[in-house]
Formats: sequence, structure tokens, C-alpha cells
Amino acid sequence: MSQASNAQQVEYWNGPAGERWAAAQDRIDHHLGLITEVLMAFAAPKPAERVLDIGCGGGTTALLLRERVGPHGAVTGIDISAPNLAVAQARAHAAMADVAFIEGDASAYEFQPMFNLAFSRFGVMFFADPVAAFANIREALAPNGRLAFVCWRTFKENEWAFAPYSGARDLLPPQEPMDPHAPGPFAFAEGERVRSILEQAGFADVVVKPHDTTVNLGAGVDDAVTEALTIGPLARAAAELDEAARRKIREAISPVLARYATPYGITPPAAIWLINAKVQQQNQ
Ligand SMILES: C[S@@+](CC[C@H](N)C(=O)[O-])C[C@H]1O[C@@H](n2cnc3c(N)ncnc32)[C@H](O)[C@@H]1O
Repeated sequence: MSQASNAQQVEYWNGPAGERWAAAQDRIDHHLGLITEVLMAFAAPKPAERVLDIGCGGGTTALLLRERVGPHGAVTGIDISAPNLAVAQARAHAAMADVAFIEGDASAYEFQPMFNLAFSRFGVMFFADPVAAFANIREALAPNGRLAFVCWRTFKENEWAFAPYSGARDLLPPQEPMDPHAPGPFAFAEGERVRSILEQAGFADVVVKPHDTTVNLGAGVDDAVTEALTIGPLARAAAELDEAARRKIREAISPVLARYATPYGITPPAAIWLINAKVQQQNQ
């Protein structure tokens, strides 16, 4: 059932948006540099562990995890997006890294209970039925296995997305009101809701930790504007607009993004949840 109801996400991540994401992976990794460091420290993969990277996209974190677990460990990435997996496979090949990639839906894939760590960088907010999805992911974990992932807090707290969207709002086509829990980047904005989802899915000792940081949208305003029109809510809302309309948006959001200029680039605030949990043991 979960698989059927994720069909919209399968279409989305295999369509133009998935292609855009795949082509921008190096830049996205640059944006997410600080978050990735914090997440790796939080998830703490150890030598010889077996790790599952959920919604692994272009494989960045799968390759980092591969280095951490060393020659006696193993890493598997799972994703529904063929264009992103093609990037992941090419990068693993170039790095001569032994990582297995599965094209599949993490909410329905029939996993063996072999992983010590189920990990994700922003790949778990897209499930139509999150409780069922995490119950299935739990099936991938060995006894004493753990889950660790990062997701966004609210749209407003994430100025990297909210500020350019607000700056362009009057130039966008009318937007449907969004169900705040619908699959999408901000579906897990309410930390207590995520805790409840994980507990219902059979996880225990759930930790939901807020972390404030920044993302790096690029060296200068032009790069940041291009990024805002490539990924995130503004990119989704502006996807169908013609060049003239996009030019107006570029002009409107340039001064907005210029406010976040630092010597390191355009670095607006980002607000994330770091979440981990353990498999609930049967005698608990
Ligand atoms: C925001 S991207 C993050 C990609 C990658 N983790 C990164 O940080 O670069 C979300 C990813 O989750 C994947 N995804 C969405 N729903 C999924 C599902 N049900 N099973 C597996 N992957 C899924 C998408 O295809 C996409 O690659």
C-alpha cells in the first residue's frame, strides 16, 4: 500500500526535479557542508558497521559512510530516483568505493535485518504513510540497531528557503494551500510529531535535538539566486514559469539574498532536527 501511495514521489524524483537535483549534487553538497559534518558526528558510524543510507540521492553520504565503516563494514544506499542513483553509481565507480545501491522504495522494500545503522540526510520526509515506512525501515535493523537522520524544522525558521520564496511570492502563480504534513521537505517540521511517528513504528529512546546552523548558497548573490531557483520551495513553485518571469524573480530576490553575504559566501540560517532512535527490544 505504501508503495502505491508513494507513486507521486516516485514520479517527482524521476522527473525534471529529480534531474535538476542530480545535476546540482556537487553544489548541494557545498550548501549542506556544515549540516553533513554535524550529522556524521551525531550518527557516529563505527568501523565494521553495516549502514543503510535511506533516500541516498547522489551518494554523497553513502561514500562518506563507506570511509567511516572501513574495510570490514558495508554501506547500502536506497533511493527511488533513477537520475540520482546514476550520479551515486558514477561517483562510487570513480572513487573505487564498494557501495551497493538499490533502486527501491524504503517504505516497502523487503529488507533483511542486517544493518547496525539506518541513516539519512533529508531522505525520509517523503513517505505517504510515515509510520508504516519507519516500521519497514525498522525491519532492516539488526537487534540493537539504531536510526539517525536529519530533517528540516519549519519553513519560516529555514530562511535559506523562506526568504527567497517570500521575496518572490507576488511573482509566483497562485499556490495551493499545503497540508503541513504532506510528503515534502518540511513534513517533519514538528519534532514531537516525528517522535510519535517513530514510537508508533516500534522505535524507542527517541532523541529529537534542534540544531541551528547555516547553509552556503554559493560564493555570490548570482550563485545563490540560481540555487534558490534550482532546489527548494521557490524552485518548485517557479518550475513552470517562462524565462521573462524567472528574470523578474531573480531581480526581486537578489537584494533579499544579498543580506546574507559573508566572507564565506551567501549563508542564510538553517534550522534542523537531529533525530536518533533505537529498535525497541521485545522485552521492553
Ligand atoms: C532531499 S533529497 C536528499 C538526497 C540525499 N540524501 C542528499 O542529502 O543529497 C531526498 C531523496 O529521497 C529520495 N526518496 C524520496 N522518497 C523515497 C522513498 N520512499 N524511498 C527511497 N528514497 C526516497 C528521493 O528520491 C531523493 O533522492
